[in-house]
Amino acid sequence: MIKEKIEKALNEQIMKEEYSSRIYLAMASWCEINGYEGAANYLYNHSDEERMHMLKLVHFLNDRGGTTKLMKMDAPDVEYKSLKDIFEKILKHEIYISESINEIYGLCMDEKDYTTGNFMQWYINEQIEEESTMNGILDKINLAGDSKGGLFHIDKELGSMSAPRPAAETEE
Ligand code: FEO
Repeated sequence: MIKEKIEKALNEQIMKEEYSSRIYLAMASWCEINGYEGAANYLYNHSDEERMHMLKLVHFLNDRGGTTKLMKMDAPDVEYKSLKDIFEKILKHEIYISESINEIYGLCMDEKDYTTGNFMQWYINEQIEEESTMNGILDKINLAGDSKGGLFHIDKELGSMSAPRPAAETEE
């Protein structure tokens, strides 16, 4: 049976992953409206990935005899200044998520819950990858500066980094 302290920390992490999914959905929508189709696809995909991160935690917690409790969340921003603004915010958010995961890992060690600690290793590795990917994208955006051509290429590249999105249904 999972300890109450760990259960609480995992439920908070479930909320953070769910919130990450919402933020990236809002950002994807902004990109779609503002002509960045590739970035929109990339971020819609990323939003799905965050939902997968959330679900993984939900199943683990429930399997360990805990109870998933979903929490209230704020609405994410609707307006963004630029693609650069979006990826700066993503990187900042991912660093915050990494810190949160590291704290859970530390708590698992303090509480001698090595099973959950072991499970959290997956998230630690995932965060290393996410921070590095976002850093790389941001570097490219910074290099492009205000160049429309540069941003166009980055958008294309982001599009090629994501699975194709099903077209919106147009039922008549
Ligand atoms: Fe689930 Fe992007 O961290």
